[in-house]
Amino acid sequence: MIVNREIILKAMVRMQKRKKIAVLGYGSQGRSAALNLRDSGYDVTIGLPPQSQSRKKARADKFAAIFSVSQAVKKCTTLCFAFPDHLQGKTYKSEILANLNENSTLWFLHGFAVHFGFIKPAAHCDVILIAPHAPGLAVRDEYLKNKSLSAFYSVHQNATGRADKTVFELSRAMGFKKSKLVKTTFEDEALGDLFGEQAVLCGGLAGLIKNGFEVLVENGIPPENAYLEVAYQLDLIIALIKKHGIEGMFERISVAARFGSLEAGPEIMGESVKKKMRSRYKEIESGKFARKLNNLSWAELNSLSKNLKKLSSPLFEKMARKFSS
Ligand SMILES: NC(=O)c1ccc[n+]([C@@H]2O[C@H](COP(=O)([O-])OP(=O)(O)OC[C@H]3O[C@@H](n4cnc5c(N)ncnc54)[C@H](OP(=O)(O)O)[C@@H]3O)[C@@H](O)[C@H]2O)c1
Repeated sequence: MIVNREIILKAMVRMQKRKKIAVLGYGSQGRSAALNLRDSGYDVTIGLPPQSQSRKKARADKFAAIFSVSQAVKKCTTLCFAFPDHLQGKTYKSEILANLNENSTLWFLHGFAVHFGFIKPAAHCDVILIAPHAPGLAVRDEYLKNKSLSAFYSVHQNATGRADKTVFELSRAMGFKKSKLVKTTFEDEALGDLFGEQAVLCGGLAGLIKNGFEVLVENGIPPENAYLEVAYQLDLIIALIKKHGIEGMFERISVAARFGSLEAGPEIMGESVKKKMRSRYKEIESGKFARKLNNLSWAELNSLSKNLKKLSSPLFEKMARKFSS
């Protein structure tokens, strides 16, 4: 198979270097990073807490070098921070800092811990960002198809003078083609990413869909119809926007939908929503949100899933399951 041959060729080139990379965490991004890097010829060590459930997953994927975070840090010179952002500052202080090799590369997938000051990187290290614009599964799938997603990159600290080169080497090994890399800063990535997921992509969108669904249902529209009208076609509309822009999307829908959008869009999603978005941005920019996230107690973390259920409803979930295949 073409894909396999390319993977093997990449692996042979990379084998010459055998750069030792510790992927810390084996969740959404950690697993794809570890697999992509290994397939690209890097010598990958997995760093996980001793009791971590993810050790089983990494073993099933045939990783033999699975160590505690502190041991993995001692063995490697490139560290990929692929575990939850709110734990990075504490783990850096307790397990990473004292075990760093000279001139290590600290590679972040999100600017959070560095930008908000939870990690003050050691001066002898390179500090880089390669942040995929996708969940881990998609990063792995695209790599296997020899396609490329886009990713942000940045160099925050260039202690060795080689940090830029490292960014491009690692990006290539992850499957991100140079043409798909977008230069940024840790600050812009951290602020933009948090705002995007809270106000638009995840929190905002969930609220928009839920409200639309509930208004239809409370007015007697069957839940099946309500789901199909407010959620089912979203990916098609998003695909139009990504390909043709918002104007191009409007050009491709019915006159009724266009006229209705002109009437209702600014009325429902106008200045009042934008005002709330601005205040949300301030909360993120000031570091208030980051401090809250960083200080979450175990009890708060454990009740996250339960509380998130309030952002949907059993009826909506039933419809999502019904039309999921
Ligand atoms: N997910 C995304 O779509 C996405 C997209 C772009 C960037 N990012 C960034 O990628 C980074 C990782 O995010 P993620 O969503 O992939 O994380 P995640 O799936 O929540 O990471 C969980 C993994 O980290 C392990 N872990 C927990 N505490 C740890 C510690 N102290 N040291 C080492 N490993 C630990 C967990 O082990 P257990 O089995 O013990 O729980 C599990 O393997 C973050 O910076 C995030 O912002 C994520």
